[in-house]
Amino acid sequence: MAEGRLTRRGLLAGGVAAGVTALGRPASAAAGDATGEAGEPVVPFHGPRQAGIATEPQAHAVFVAFDLREDTGREGLGRMMRVLTDDARRLTQGRPALADTEPELASPPARLTVTFGFGPGLYAKAKIRSPIKPLPAFTIDKLEKRWSGGDLLVQICADDPLTVAHTLRMIVKDARSFATVRWTQRGFRRAAGTQPAGQTQRNVMGQLDGTANPVPGTPAFDLAVWRPDGATTLVVRRIKAEMETWDAADVVAKEFTIGRRLSTGAPLTGAREQDPPDFDAPGPNGFPIISEYAHIRRAHVGDPSLRILRRVYNYDEGITRQGHADSGLVFASYQADIQRQFVPIQRQLAEADLLNEWTTPIGSAVFAIPKGCGPEGWIGQEVLS
Ligand code: HEM
Repeated sequence: MAEGRLTRRGLLAGGVAAGVTALGRPASAAAGDATGEAGEPVVPFHGPRQAGIATEPQAHAVFVAFDLREDTGREGLGRMMRVLTDDARRLTQGRPALADTEPELASPPARLTVTFGFGPGLYAKAKIRSPIKPLPAFTIDKLEKRWSGGDLLVQICADDPLTVAHTLRMIVKDARSFATVRWTQRGFRRAAGTQPAGQTQRNVMGQLDGTANPVPGTPAFDLAVWRPDGATTLVVRRIKAEMETWDAADVVAKEFTIGRRLSTGAPLTGAREQDPPDFDAPGPNGFPIISEYAHIRRAHVGDPSLRILRRVYNYDEGITRQGHADSGLVFASYQADIQRQFVPIQRQLAEADLLNEWTTPIGSAVFAIPKGCGPEGWIGQEVLS
């Protein structure tokens, strides 16, 4: 413990970072594109791009956003990111953080990834020009401050909820002297092993969600998600699902709303999930089979470089006294450029998407995601040093 404390003090002073981080594992050749197979417990931390984006989504996630303390300037931010990077590089590899209070919880890491994002306020406090700006207001928004904004974001994902809880605690403990917690949002997908990796999962509304996503490892994915230097951006929207009225809709209405079948996820004009939708195909009454207002028509973008990666989690905060579900999506979208990619899609949806009848955005935040780092470096180094 004493050694841990000493090293921690050194780290906070910004002195011995290199010596400490040299304990990290060497960067793997695949680090930047770590997609992590189900059951493979360790996702590489080092690489040109941060993990937790192209990584096959893990079963559990927590997104935590911080407000920086007024006196945390650029230099303090650098110290904070050195410490947090060190925590992430250790914990993701199944090793305890420095001065870890429960070191036994570091293993197994259960495909843990820790991904860092910088909000517009971080750049303002560091007196650096921000590469991102807040989203415009959308007519459908009913945003609550308790789910919105933030200077620093940490996305923690793993196949095990105890790993997520322990990592969150370590990260928050180390961020505490620089920042206060603004919000935390927990999300879940199907338990690891429930269905084969790569197969589209259902969300809390029962739909197959993620069918038309860009596929990691393809040129179309790289074009849509990564900037040439390995950076990207993240939009987090908390979207409440009105489950009571959704449950009252019949299957035909539900399928008409999305433009896909509930059973197979196939477009209404096709037979299999991956059949391309035919947006021109007319129905018996002359109107298109996939409605002008169907979610997949409104959200569809032809140019692959303008698509977004939806890395979506469900949330379920339990049942109200009236017996109604408080659930929906922690909608996380990665794209190279928020203004060029995310904003036009969200605008199209806000204007006229049948799904708006059953969904309400109640939280919203944007972050620049710095590139990844090597064993000697730290996340945000190129921005903050
Ligand atoms: C609770 C809210 C939402 C639900 C339940 C939902 C559900 C779905 C479903 C079931 C699909 C069809 C299958 C698929 O390709 O994944 C889909 C497609 C899509 N959604 Fe959403 N979605 C939501 C919000 C959003 C938002 C906020 C955006 C972006 C601003 C968005 C963008 C897209 C895109 C780009 C597609 C693919 C369209 C295409 O076929 O090219 N969705 N969504």
